[in-house]
Amino acid sequence: MIERLAQQLTEFDPQSGVIEGAPIIERRLSDLRGSFADREAYETTLAEADPVIYTVALVEPAQGEGALHYGLGRIVPGRIGAEYYLTKGHLHAWRPAAEIYVGLSGEGAMLLEDERSGESRLLSLLPNSVVYVPGFSAHRTINTGSTLLTYLGIYSAAAGHDYSFIAGRNFRQVLVELDGQPTLTERSRFLASLQTPGANARHE
Ligand code: F6R
Ligand code: MN
Repeated sequence: MIERLAQQLTEFDPQSGVIEGAPIIERRLSDLRGSFADREAYETTLAEADPVIYTVALVEPAQGEGALHYGLGRIVPGRIGAEYYLTKGHLHAWRPAAEIYVGLSGEGAMLLEDERSGESRLLSLLPNSVVYVPGFSAHRTINTGSTLLTYLGIYSAAAGHDYSFIAGRNFRQVLVELDGQPTLTERSRFLASLQTPGANARHE
């Protein structure tokens, strides 16, 4: 009989977000306090319901140097105000650790922000596409479509998660729907536009 690591072979169901035998992390709207720019829209929505925004099924077949972990992410479609449903976002605790995201279904994007330069980058996350997230990059996944967004994230077992950056000041940019289109804009500019009804958050 051939011996193998537990979870050396898994099967996943993107629709349900389930990987057999893998624990699932569930993030509800109430877990995402502070993640969305429009606080008023957040509180209004939360007062009515606390839906699951995303799940991640985690597979950790091995630990230690050289080992890999991966997660099956599944973000439902929707918005808080103009901002699309998103993941909290994080840096890796081991900063040089990169990550590979493989798009499975739906339409989305990855927002990257280099911790050292502050530079932002928005990359499409689509089926049959692969996004390389370099080390030292805060990364967040966003569902810009009207269906489930599902993807695999594959990373070093030593990467770890650091959410303090996001809890502190959030990403510099927000991805919002403007004139029916996903539009990347500066958070400060978007926040200012919320204070001034009729103002346009678009860069001009
Ligand atoms: C792991 C990774 C993904 C995310 C998942 C949920 O390093 O990047 O598996 O963990 O997309 O996002 P967060 O962790 O930001 O809630
Ligand atoms: Mn990551």
